Amino acid sequence: MNKPICLFDSGIGGLTVLKKLIDRFPNENYIYLADLARVPFGDKTKEEIKKIGSEILEWLLKFNPKLIIMACNTSSAVFGSQILALSSKLQIPIYGMIESCAKEIANLNHSKITVWATKLVTKSNAYKNIIQKHNPEIKTEEIACPKLVPMIEDLTFNLPDKESIIVEYLDMTSKDSEALVLGCTHYPLIKENLLRLTDLQIIDPTDSLLKDLENHLTGGKDISWNVPTTNKSQVSLYTTAQVEKLERFAKLYLCRDIKVTMVSLNKITV
Ligand code: DGL
Repeated sequence: MNKPICLFDSGIGGLTVLKKLIDRFPNENYIYLADLARVPFGDKTKEEIKKIGSEILEWLLKFNPKLIIMACNTSSAVFGSQILALSSKLQIPIYGMIESCAKEIANLNHSKITVWATKLVTKSNAYKNIIQKHNPEIKTEEIACPKLVPMIEDLTFNLPDKESIIVEYLDMTSKDSEALVLGCTHYPLIKENLLRLTDLQIIDPTDSLLKDLENHLTGGKDISWNVPTTNKSQVSLYTTAQVEKLERFAKLYLCRDIKVTMVSLNKITV
């Protein structure tokens, strides 16, 4: 069998990455782990995320992955430049969410951009540091939005309340900013609301990641000609809690029935 692409996140957010991957690479197989027992990641300490991330990577290795994607900006920021070292130690390519997007932004003509992200991502200045390194002319504002992940994970949240929280963060966003980077994989799930509420250009880092992955998975060949019309990918979902919620959401969002398997990773409790 084709070795799988393994992804992880704290919850449903990483499914926004998985969905775009399935659309672009329909012949690949996917394993996704949601660590719903420990969501949200963004309010934890760097040390806690290091432990959680290492534990999840170790668990994913048993699937003999073709590559691993940290479908989580928080883990990507905490592991940062160590992702490369980890990749060569494990002899498996590991991709984070931040590097490819920040580099692409550095090549754009914006004078000021805003990144919405979790507390831990903004604390690390992960986007700002890479953008500045490649293009010191671009001003980068990073805003922590700790209310968004719990709101998005709460699938019962009603619309007016939801939008008032989004407006709170839009009010904190500089008026002269030209683009809004969704620096958390949960945020594309409120993209429709954002499009209604702001004129800012919305940037989803998954789009930059896909371009990087294209080179890796196709060896630079254009595969748009041989993408089959029927989707053949096998998708397996695992979670550390809330099986029923993930199953219900995945059915709606990925438009397919996928059985979710419960796993226990809690060697550490944080
Ligand atoms: N979706 C993740 C991210 O991109 C994690 C958010 C969280 O659990 O706080 O940062």
